[in-house]
Amino acid sequence: MTQVSPQKHFDILIIGSGAAGLTLALRTADFARVAVLSKGELSQGATFYAQGGIAAVLDDEDSVDAHVSDTLTAGVGLCHPDVVERIVEHSAESVSWLVDQGVPFTTIDGSDPRTGSLHLTKEGGHSHRRIIHATDATGKAVFETLKARALAHSNIELLEGYTAVDLITQPTAEGADRCVGAYVLNQATEAVEVIRCKFVALATGGASKAYLYTSNPDGASGDGIAMAWRAGCSVANMEFNQFHPTCLYHPHAKSFLITEALRGEGGTLELPDGTRFMPQFDEREELAPRDIVARAIDHEMKRLGCDCVYLNITHKPAAFVREHFPTIAERCLEFGIDITKDRIPVVPAAHYTCGGVVVNERGMTDLTNLYAIGETSFTGLHGANRMASNSLLECFVVAFAAADDIAARFDRTTLESALPAWDASRVVDSDDEILVSHNWDELRRCMWDFVGIVRNDERLQRARRRIDLLQEEIIDYYQRHRVTNDLLELRNLVLVSSLIIDSALQRKESRGLHFTLDYPEMVTEPTDTLLRP
Ligand code: FAD
Ligand code: SIN
Repeated sequence: MTQVSPQKHFDILIIGSGAAGLTLALRTADFARVAVLSKGELSQGATFYAQGGIAAVLDDEDSVDAHVSDTLTAGVGLCHPDVVERIVEHSAESVSWLVDQGVPFTTIDGSDPRTGSLHLTKEGGHSHRRIIHATDATGKAVFETLKARALAHSNIELLEGYTAVDLITQPTAEGADRCVGAYVLNQATEAVEVIRCKFVALATGGASKAYLYTSNPDGASGDGIAMAWRAGCSVANMEFNQFHPTCLYHPHAKSFLITEALRGEGGTLELPDGTRFMPQFDEREELAPRDIVARAIDHEMKRLGCDCVYLNITHKPAAFVREHFPTIAERCLEFGIDITKDRIPVVPAAHYTCGGVVVNERGMTDLTNLYAIGETSFTGLHGANRMASNSLLECFVVAFAAADDIAARFDRTTLESALPAWDASRVVDSDDEILVSHNWDELRRCMWDFVGIVRNDERLQRARRRIDLLQEEIIDYYQRHRVTNDLLELRNLVLVSSLIIDSALQRKESRGLHFTLDYPEMVTEPTDTLLRP
């Protein structure tokens, strides 16, 4: 039964309130009415937790060419060079905009970032110091500044506790579909509402929650990728899920990252007996790109049968360590680890989704009026392995470009009249939460064990069979029950896991983040793994 219900309408619906979503909102709100959705608190995305910083060419000794070249090397032959050049060329402009917004970046002498020189740190894969940061809590500083700006803008409505369920599309006169809004679960009323708009932007972050151990917050369930796929968009390179080498290893420390900048400032990786091991794996030692460091740690842990390795910065003066890494020092101390005196136990964990919804340089997807920006998108910047701190940079540069594109097309797009309401006439309340929570656990363990840092065909096929079964059960449950946030995330996560496995099975080589024992070599002419619904 289809009925018309009260509907919210805006010019632009942005699903996600992280760096990408808030930037797009601020860049469009002077000419459009914008809604920004977050399924939890506005701070729930990965942006809030970003530590290291934003890669940008600001130093006279550095150059766009050098940043481009480092990105291409880290991406192991799969970055799109034109995209890399474009994004890196715009890095200084993005940082300057953030400084203007008031982000309290760390400066060399503690002065105001608007007048002083920004302090630059170093991370893996970078040949220069080029990471702009706010001590070790860059994401929080960026998020809080942009959120405050958005709250102060009369054209921006920030909607917390709203989970987008699916995109709404309608056929155009030319026969292709266009995006005209979204179904959205209002968690307070438990009703699914319709938001209609001229443009939708997916800014929903990544899907690292597909793995049992992750640096990501709980909401990283790949919702944007799943919604775009169901609406008919292509996705690419889903096999390249990045594992960050150093997350805190402690039974009570859920998802706490130890920034790569700690290695950039001299931290060394050691085995339990104190031996450094990275020099045996790569001449860049602790500052090799992440895929290499994470694999080296995985190798050593399996070889020695140990639960973790150690990150050591105790040789640096305690005041220096506390000044550069106050958040990490404080958090570790809560677990009884004084990082100025003790080595930090660390393990790799799922961190970043390099693949995503295929977009062009302006963030446009295959579906008219639908954009995807930030971690949910695939622009071609990261190739087979993202270089540290290039992610936030991509969020800003592509959000700017998407805003310009929307501005150029704004007057020519009309708001669709009332859209069909959500049909909940054939579902009942969820009666058995254990089915949802069990499937969550099973899925994430399966992905960790069989689709992790080191893969082979047998493990991938095993994962394929188990994920297929889970998907069947989850879809069946979804069709019979009223939606909840957990159920929606599970439905998305199982779909995205399936896309990761499909992509991993298609890549018959080892490259960057995809390492398989069955095909240890690289092919000579690599291509992206493109999946179409
Ligand atoms: P996010 O910031 O993840 O925001 C996603 C938003 O979408 C959230 O508001 C969420 O509530 C919302 N959302 C999701 N699904 C739905 C839905 N169905 N309905 C409604 N809302 C939804 N990168 C760097 O470049 N430098 C760093 O130093 C750095 N450090 C990191 C440290 C950590 C611990 C982590 C986890 C990541 C780090 N990264 C870093 C990666 C980077 O932070 C992320 O890639 C980036 O912040 C993603 O921003 P985003 O705007 O795309 O999404
Ligand atoms: C970190 O600070 O190590 C994370 C940086 C990133 O993911 O780019």
